[in-house]
Amino acid sequence: MKIVVIQGPNLNMLGHREQNVYGAMKLEEIHSQMEAVAKQNNFEIEFFQSNLEGEIVDKIQECLGDADGIIINPAAYTHSSIAIRDAISAVSLPAIEVHISNIYRREEFRQKSMTAPVCTGQISGFGPFGYHLAMISMMQMLGELDA
Ligand code: DQA
Repeated sequence: MKIVVIQGPNLNMLGHREQNVYGAMKLEEIHSQMEAVAKQNNFEIEFFQSNLEGEIVDKIQECLGDADGIIINPAAYTHSSIAIRDAISAVSLPAIEVHISNIYRREEFRQKSMTAPVCTGQISGFGPFGYHLAMISMMQMLGELDA
């Protein structure tokens, strides 16, 4: 079983950008924790980060026939991208949307997710731990959680 983790724009800046909002953990640290959990449960995992909408759409499309589930933080594209929403919808795989911050207690423009309605569920506001919660939920959904 394979999980693909897709990270949107500016998430490569984690650890540096707005630490008061996103914390001090770097993206590589988040990924290595996810990798450990995946390994422990015999899941294959792949990580992808892009600042470009079309590359994210391409990656989601590539998941068809290659992955069993998607964990995605579309970052700023969450609030604007019909293209990413349509791609998630098109591949029709279990998908979990993650936000480090609680988008519902931030600026009004962040309080709307274009992508959440086509995902299985959304995790928002638990900091980097949200990725761990998404891993547990995804492995459970795919029926192979060893916990
Ligand atoms: C984010 C929230 C978005 O509004 C923002 O544009 C991001 C990160 C989060 O993880 O909290 O880049 O997706």
